[in-house]
This record gives sequence, structure tokens and C-alpha cells, in this order.
Amino acid sequence: MTNHNQFLSRAAEQMKESAIRRMGSVVASARDIISFAPGYPAPETFPWTEFREIAADLLSGEDPGVLQYGPTRGHRPLLGAIAGIMSHRGITCPAEELLVTTGSQQGLDLVARVLLDPGDVVLVELPSYTGALTAFRNVQARIIGVPQEADGVDLAALDATHERLRREGQRVKMLYVVPNFQNPTGLLIGLPKRQRLLEWAARRDVLLVEDDPYRELYFEDSTTEADVRPIKVDDRDGRVIYLSSFSKTLAPGYRVAWIAAPAPLVTKFEMAKQAEDLLTGSLDQRVVYEACRRGVLERQLPLLRSHYQHKRDVMEQALTRELADTVRWPAPKGGFFLWLTLPVEIDADAMIPRAIEHGVIYVAGEAFFVDHQAANTMRLSFSAPTPQRIEEGVSRLAAALRSEIEASVRIQKAGTSRP
Ligand SMILES: Cc1ncc(COP(=O)(O)O)c(C=O)c1O
Repeated sequence: MTNHNQFLSRAAEQMKESAIRRMGSVVASARDIISFAPGYPAPETFPWTEFREIAADLLSGEDPGVLQYGPTRGHRPLLGAIAGIMSHRGITCPAEELLVTTGSQQGLDLVARVLLDPGDVVLVELPSYTGALTAFRNVQARIIGVPQEADGVDLAALDATHERLRREGQRVKMLYVVPNFQNPTGLLIGLPKRQRLLEWAARRDVLLVEDDPYRELYFEDSTTEADVRPIKVDDRDGRVIYLSSFSKTLAPGYRVAWIAAPAPLVTKFEMAKQAEDLLTGSLDQRVVYEACRRGVLERQLPLLRSHYQHKRDVMEQALTRELADTVRWPAPKGGFFLWLTLPVEIDADAMIPRAIEHGVIYVAGEAFFVDHQAANTMRLSFSAPTPQRIEEGVSRLAAALRSEIEASVRIQKAGTSRP
């Protein structure tokens, strides 16, 4: 048999399967596991009827472009609709500054390919979105983490890290942040800090990559539209590469998202995209455009906010009831995720087999770090399971955690009683 490993590129040798995808296959292979692992939108919120009508209209055969190749930049009317969305967010975006991408995940891959050489430094919040870490790793960038505070990345630590790297002769190319309801922590970067981050990036001559898929999903009991103001709104000198997506507001299966960035960079992203997929699916782009034009997206947003807020409430209430004195978490004010810190002696990754035994699964926090920190953390996603499943899942998680704690106490006792 041919040894295929000898043919792998250095980059491919280092590729690892995402922990989140791995958890997905656990769920697929086992019966009655309640999954808090993947950040999937709730399928019951998809506007099925409208999508059916739109697809039927598009597939009538009247417009041959629907199933044809098209411009890499994106379907022109959709680019117009995206410019409208950006303007609603406070960002003026001429056509030459926009590119439709196949999910924001492709946007991250393009950013990495176009801007990072092997060994280039990219700074990330800790913990940080695994998909971005993977994109940066695939181009063999050097990823350095900076801790977060309750209102986002720690600016003093950020600057100290930059200074240390500068002294070592390392050029920091970019800082990657998810300011709104971060994946995995659910944290929101405070408004003053957004401004200071932009000033910092200018002072240190670093690009800011602002990844913003959850912006529309703010929970109205604790957050307003003013709190989710993109950093890019105040970007006067082309510092910010902004990414957003229709995955969490319409449906992720369409894989339609966008990058807004200075025109010279967008031109390069477009060239890199040509080698990846030529263009994002024509039918997908048109369905999304029609959903914007017919007002489907606009009608969806308030429904999604209250849907996910309710699920967040159910998860928090269940956690408070079952585990209040054992775990802690920052209250999510939007988005899909809740970040749990367990007792320090518990390793969430090592606990996975016990969790599966109890019929529940999550993503161990380790996956979101760059150097295996915070083993006693986990990400719970409340977006996809029904409220009843969330309640039941938290009970199962609590049972698994209690039995893990008992086991660790037994091990400690056995250790101390040894002569
Ligand atoms: C922070 C963040 N960025 C990007 C993505 C990728 O989204 P898309 O479906 O648009 O590829 C996700 C998906 O979960 C995400 O959480």
C-alpha cells in the first residue's frame, strides 16, 4: 500500500480535526445524546415556507444565471443588499470593498492565505474561535493568545505581548477578535474598549480582523443595538477587515457570507477565492438575496432574538438549579454560547467519556486555546436543542460532573493515604 504520509505538505502534516466536528460525529454515532457541542442554529427557526417559495420561483428556469457560473465578487444584487445591511450597521461600503464568501469560514481562510506567511504572528483573544485558529494554523502562522476580561481582550496584556514580540524581532500582522457574543465565551467587547482597540491597532500598525456573525442576535433584556456597534464603523484609515454571515440569521446551509475590507485587499481576496471555488453557489446567493429583498431576513431577526434569549434563560435557570455552587459562567447577552468554568481539579476533555455515558456532550474548553490552557472549562451551545432537551441535558451534565468530582475526590484520598 502506498504510504500517503510521505506526500503530505508540511502544512497538511500539522492539520488536525476540529474538536467541534469530532463531537458532531460522537452525536451521529450514539443514541439519545443531548448535544450542546456544535453552534448550530435552531432548524425550527428556518423560514421554510418562504425558502420553498423563493426556490420554486428561482428554479422556474426563466433566469439561466440561477444555475450558471457568475462573478467571483458575488451576485451583483446581493452585493447591493449587503451594502444596505452594512449601512444599517453604520458602515459605508462601496462595491469595491465587498466580497461574497462561501461562509465566513472561507473569509477567514482568505484572510489567512492573503496576509500570513509561515511564522507570521497573529494575536487572538483567549479563548478564541477554533475555525479561525484552524485557518491561521493551516498557513503555519504563529498564533499568540491574549487573555480576556469581562469586557473583552485585556489591552494591557495585548500591548505587553506586542512589545515582547517586537523585542524578539517578530512582526505582528493582525489581531483577530469576535466583539459580539464571542464564540466560545459569549462575551461582548465594551464600547470604550472597541475604540481603544482601534487606536491600539493604528499605533502598533496592526490589522484588525473583526469577525461578526452574531451581531443581530442581541438579547433585548440586556443589550441594545448600540452595544453591538462594529469596530469598523470608526475605521477611518482602512485598519479593519470585517466579516459577517447569513449563517446565523437565515441558514448556514446556504454558505453565504461576506468580507468588507479596503479595496486593494478585497482584490487579493478575490484572486485567492478564484482558486478555491470560483464563486459562492449561484443559487444560494440568489436565495439569500431574495430573502433580503422580500423582507424575510428583517422579519426573522426579532423572532431569532427572542427564540435564543428564551433558550439562554432555560439553560441558565437549569444550571442555577443544578450546579450553582459548583460552576460559574458569564451571562450571555446574545449569541449561541455559554462558557462554563468547572472546579479547578476537573478536566473537561477527560470528562467526555463520562458525559457521553450520561447522554450529553459539549466542547471541552481546551479546543479554544492555543496551548492547552484552562482544562476546567467547556462551551455549551444553547442554540439548537429544544428547551426541554436543554433542561434534560443540563441535568445529565450535572450528574456527570458530580460523579467526576466524586471520582477525583476518591483519587485524591487514595493519593494522600499512601505511605
Ligand atoms: C466566530 C465565528 N466566525 C465564523 C464562523 C463561520 O460561519 P459561517 O457559517 O459563515 O462559515 C462561525 C461559525 O460558527 C463563528 O462562530
